[in-house]
Amino acid sequence: MSEVVTYNADGNVGIITVDSPPVNALSLAVRRGILEAAKTGIADDSVQALVLICTGRTFIAGADITEFDKAPESPWLDEVIDLIEGAAKPVVAAIHGTALGGGLETTLACHYRVAVPSARCGLPEVSLGIVPGAGGTQRLPRLIGPEAALDMIASGIPVKASKALELGLLDHIVEGELLPGALAFARNLIEEGKGPRRIREMSDKVQDVNAAIFEAARKLYGKKRRGFNAPQRAIDCVEIATKTDIDAGLAKEREIFEACLHSDQSKAQRHIFFAERTATKIPDVPRDTPVRDIKSAAIIGAGTMGGGIAMNFASAGIPVFLMDATQEGLDRGIAIIEKNYASGVKKGRMTQEQMDATMALVRPTLSYADLADVDIVIEAVFEEMDIKKTVFKELDAVCKASAILATNTSTLDINEIADSISRPEQVIGLHFFSPANIMKLLEIVRGEKTAKDVIATSFKLSKTIRKVGVLVGVCDGFVGNRMVHPYIRESMFLLEEGATPAQVDKAIYEFGMAMGPHAMSDLAGLDVGWRIRKRQAETRPADERYCAIADKICEGGNYGQKSGRGFYIYDPATRRSTPDPEVEALCVAEAGRNGIERRAISDAEIVERCIYALINEGARILEEGIALRASDIDVIYAYGYGFPAYRGGPMHYADTIGIARVYERVCAFHEEHGVLWEPAPLLKQLAETDRTFSDFTK
Ligand code: CAA
Repeated sequence: MSEVVTYNADGNVGIITVDSPPVNALSLAVRRGILEAAKTGIADDSVQALVLICTGRTFIAGADITEFDKAPESPWLDEVIDLIEGAAKPVVAAIHGTALGGGLETTLACHYRVAVPSARCGLPEVSLGIVPGAGGTQRLPRLIGPEAALDMIASGIPVKASKALELGLLDHIVEGELLPGALAFARNLIEEGKGPRRIREMSDKVQDVNAAIFEAARKLYGKKRRGFNAPQRAIDCVEIATKTDIDAGLAKEREIFEACLHSDQSKAQRHIFFAERTATKIPDVPRDTPVRDIKSAAIIGAGTMGGGIAMNFASAGIPVFLMDATQEGLDRGIAIIEKNYASGVKKGRMTQEQMDATMALVRPTLSYADLADVDIVIEAVFEEMDIKKTVFKELDAVCKASAILATNTSTLDINEIADSISRPEQVIGLHFFSPANIMKLLEIVRGEKTAKDVIATSFKLSKTIRKVGVLVGVCDGFVGNRMVHPYIRESMFLLEEGATPAQVDKAIYEFGMAMGPHAMSDLAGLDVGWRIRKRQAETRPADERYCAIADKICEGGNYGQKSGRGFYIYDPATRRSTPDPEVEALCVAEAGRNGIERRAISDAEIVERCIYALINEGARILEEGIALRASDIDVIYAYGYGFPAYRGGPMHYADTIGIARVYERVCAFHEEHGVLWEPAPLLKQLAETDRTFSDFTK
């Protein structure tokens, strides 16, 4: 008998129970177990119907992704599905938690589906760079129609139980306990003499389908998921369901699934899936480290960043003080938050009542005294050490002993801030990315003295406020911004050498980044980098190559999107950008001033110069232990900087093209462009020993 799947009879209904924590994934043992239990149930003459149910937190959450790179072993999921679908007595899937991927496909082999109200159903395979491989693309359109199936399969977004019922994906919602509800449903079938209802035998919904829906979906996902292959292939599969019989469709789906599975895109997307989860594992902060309750919060500084951070807490139902030095600052901050939520209401993301309840959780204050009882404070004031220290002194005086005191600094030394107060162990960096209410990344910056439970609590908090937390060490710029500097630097040098901002941005956009470096700088505000460069000017070696184009744009009072002009000119109404001839003239002038002869630059060189600069700095960060592992850097870039998930982040991308190749190009750039391209020792070492970043542990 299987250890993870059991069979027992309850009167005239047989129950197949899967119990394979954490998420009942369809591992070999689970497939084997279901097959055995289903055979037993089918052969059991004392039962007239079967229920398939799971224990633990969820119904089957899909194939076991860890098996994808191993040689497949029988029984395949198809065998399980064929057996269940072909059963002569009705089989009912009883769903709680999430029925995802192969899990949902297993329910589509069952003849009926019931679920608790909190359940969700989905085919999220496209987020792993694959298409459903066990009949999902052929059965779902037959059950709910191709249009609704396209939505679910090409987006990968699960639907709630209520929606699934409306679509006809579920037959019944069980209020109260699932198993008794599912048994009652099964007994009802028996009483009414209803036998198996096989989706493979349904065909009315896939006949005479207008081909325009597929073209529309291809266009939509071409935009929404630019560069991703799997959504397009998923649309192909659904279209096939409307053109062939089910067996031919299933064979074609399998072929497409296999091709996707072995693609670089799928490997990259699966890498990101596991990288995100691995990032939460900190070697010296075990999972059972006690965490503090975060029931209230305070944000200091009601600017764009502070307001955005406060929204994360309010949206998660946590009351949050928003504090500022002036009433005007506070009013402005609250007004921006209100505007953001109102736009959510307009777009149908929340109701007016939900907005009112959420806004009521944001409490404006001008006084530190109000923060005496909060569980966490995050300061997001002006990026000056003295100002930060003053804030922390006030917090040290007023906050309760257990309060976590966090800074959102992106450049300053957290250890210096921590050491300026009486409780450095309570201090941590929580570095949000702009816009803070939207960007998923949270760099959790560990100071020398940060307590372990403060780290564990920060990870838990990041999940509560729906961020992806990654632990980083203290250095200028931490991981993300430190790597972005050489990336931006190269994008600037390319302007002197012959490219235009639009050419650089287009090449990088086509590589897959959400936007090019110059468009990104304009969005972030050119004054931010200008201020940092002015501070660095004193320590910059006199003979180091330096590009002054961005400084000169700023000197003209142009700071990017916020002032309507930066690398580009922005239309105030539409925010659309057009090239700025003055900037292009400036590039030519700066090249002349620095004695650089302009030349034609290929898109391939633009990509290598910018992306390899990221990788080379990433290698230093890894070697210094600022990031715990290469995959942490990939998570940071995928979630914070718009690096295409289908390339798996900069370090995985380097592994994919080969470290030796990257090293060879970095050496060539070093020779051509000098000291700023010095290869990171780790890059050299890995190239010479034929290893990868993913192999590297410090
Ligand atoms: N295979 C293997 N391991 C999985 C897994 C899967 N399908 N899904 C989750 N896990 C693991 C996670 O890696 C994690 O492991 P660690 O604790 O060691 O880090 C653990 O289960 C818990 O996962 P989460 O931390 O993500 O837990 P959660 O409660 O936040 O979320 C979940 C649960 C919604 C199921 C989420 O894990 C998830 O979305 N999983 C992926 C689901 C998926 O993509 N399924 C489709 C698989 S492809 C497929 O099925 C192809 C096919 O057609 C045959």
